[in-house]
Amino acid sequence: MIPVSDTKRGYLALREELDAAVRRVLDRSWFVLGAEGEAFEAEFAAYLGVEHCVGVANGTDAIELALRALDIGPGDEVIVPALTAAFSALAVSRAGATPVFADVDPVTAGLDPASVAARIGPRTRALLPVHLYGGAADLEALGVLAADHDLALVEDAAQAHGARYAGRRVGSFGQVSCFSFYPSKNLGAYGDGGAIATDDPALAARLRRLRNGGQAGRYEHVELGANSRLDELQAAILRVKLARLDAANAARRAQAARYDAALADTGLTLPRALPGAEHVYHLYAVRVPATRGGGRDALAAHLRERGVGTQIHYPTPVHRQPAYADLGPAPGALPEAEAWAAEELSLPLFPELTPDEQGRAIAAIREWAGGNAEPPAGTSAGTPRGNKRRNAE
Ligand SMILES: Cc1ncc(COP(=O)(O)O)c(C=O)c1O
Repeated sequence: MIPVSDTKRGYLALREELDAAVRRVLDRSWFVLGAEGEAFEAEFAAYLGVEHCVGVANGTDAIELALRALDIGPGDEVIVPALTAAFSALAVSRAGATPVFADVDPVTAGLDPASVAARIGPRTRALLPVHLYGGAADLEALGVLAADHDLALVEDAAQAHGARYAGRRVGSFGQVSCFSFYPSKNLGAYGDGGAIATDDPALAARLRRLRNGGQAGRYEHVELGANSRLDELQAAILRVKLARLDAANAARRAQAARYDAALADTGLTLPRALPGAEHVYHLYAVRVPATRGGGRDALAAHLRERGVGTQIHYPTPVHRQPAYADLGPAPGALPEAEAWAAEELSLPLFPELTPDEQGRAIAAIREWAGGNAEPPAGTSAGTPRGNKRRNAE
């Protein structure tokens, strides 16, 4: 089965360097808050073009601590997209604040500025755009909204390491920006990991305190901090992978370009970046209209039978999760997020995917599109666009 992503192949491609990095940490036998973490923080800050980076235990903690460092908590509202990994919203809840779900863009899946504007109220303190699937959200429009209403802009860049918007890396726009290094991410550790980026030295200092039990000095706990630190093994691994991130993202973009060209006439809605944005394709997320050949689940089943794996990101929008049943909003209130949840399918895409594997995935999708493109016998429905060419290939 051709996987959607494959961390084992990622390891094998860099095995010697990664093994050496792990050995270096084991030989030094200093495992938490040490030289590797400091070096990684400096290197990742430089890569993003920000002043400070603070390593934490995972991306969920990154968001929670970012909000706490901004003094956002009980009684405050944070506007989050209804289509994201639920962890984005859970982090808001864990900080004690209330997530307010807004709809997403039908094309990019990013937080929709018009839906956000309709939800800003007296308790709103922050916007949390998610650069979903590796493509930037509309940072310009959201930045204007945040500035006009005196709100913090906190980027959730967990899926978009290295992506650009208006020439700058995402993660360099918000007052604070949050990353996950979950193993399958574009920059993935071999366990959990996360980081927070900011240009603000006071916020960075507060975050260093918050991640370490709220300690100002050793055994001096001045506030109720978390225990959320990026360990030395993960930091050493991430340093090796950060040096290869641009090359890995270039490989992802090349594969996306091949899908774009080969699937343009199949009736699928293909991923699109905002003008001037550079997508890094954490996922190649297509939409399969329900009216098309049995819809998303039929295509997934067809591909599975032909040895092509797929995944769904995400089958349930966050506001429809049982954990948020008390918050609402009602079914149907956020139609674009619900449409994405009903139609999205992620195709195989990762730096080590071979051209042959991608070719097999493309052929199987085109077979599905061609077969289903024939009008039912005895009807007068016209031949869909490109049908002859599809069948000939
Ligand atoms: C968009 C988004 N936000 C937040 C998170 C949470 O990150 P982590 O799993 O490292 O806690 C993830 C990953 O699951 C994510 O994809």
